Amino acid sequence: MRTEQYADALNLVRDAGRVEVFTGAGMSAESGLDTFRDAQTGLWTKVDPAAFASIDSWARDPEPMWAWYLWRASVCRNAAPNAGHRAIADWASLPGASVGVTTQNIDDLHERAGTDDVVHLHGSLFDYRCTICSRPWRGEIDYPTEPVARQTPPTCPQCENLIRPGVVWFGENLPQDEWERAEERMRQTDLVVIIGTSGVVQPAAGLPLVAKQAGAKILEISPEETELSSMADVSWRNTAARGLPELVLELTL
Ligand code: APR
Repeated sequence: MRTEQYADALNLVRDAGRVEVFTGAGMSAESGLDTFRDAQTGLWTKVDPAAFASIDSWARDPEPMWAWYLWRASVCRNAAPNAGHRAIADWASLPGASVGVTTQNIDDLHERAGTDDVVHLHGSLFDYRCTICSRPWRGEIDYPTEPVARQTPPTCPQCENLIRPGVVWFGENLPQDEWERAEERMRQTDLVVIIGTSGVVQPAAGLPLVAKQAGAKILEISPEETELSSMADVSWRNTAARGLPELVLELTL
């Protein structure tokens, strides 16, 4: 059943030259990865973000955090990109298309679906670095096959401090170079397609407004209303793995 919202969404997509897809955890929900704030299933309903995603808790007791991030990385390795991830990669490969991805996600599903050059605002589950000297670390990781309460992080071969996940924790700044790339893309784009984010975490959630203030149109694809719905030109009630393939298929017809 084609709704009016669908027709409006399709018009935005058809009229756009440059497109930037702005994604959050909901983009990977249909790949089986938990979001953060969905009622009942969100990660923050199971663990306290202050205890598992803050620099203070890392300094106090790193072993539970190290175990938790390795478990999330293990779950991600066993997950597969969904039809939404693949539709974005297909879209970018259409003749004349210019489609980029800026994500808050730390999984690698956009890349595994075929999108290269993804801007990762909050880092990646598969980047590791020294807590103190920040040197990247690419040692052997023994990914757990089930969740464990504690695991000892490796130590840096240079300065012997602990290796940490290459993700942004609450209280930390976003990587400056990724932030600047994202801002520049938002200033240049004709259309932002927002998928899978509740829009509650700054500064990332402020990026669609940067685009709007530079004249871009905003399309949100979401199963429910979010903090960003009111700023969208069209907010289409759908999901990543259903809505995106439907739109991209129309572009190929
Ligand atoms: N398709 C599209 N959207 C979905 C789907 C789906 N299948 N399932 C859920 N959603 C939507 C939810 O309705 C919600 O609006 O995805 C959004 C997920 O919101 P959050 O769980 O808050 O995730 P996100 O917005 O990415 O969180 C931002 O918060 O904890 C930090 O660093 C973490 O990057 C994360 C940031």
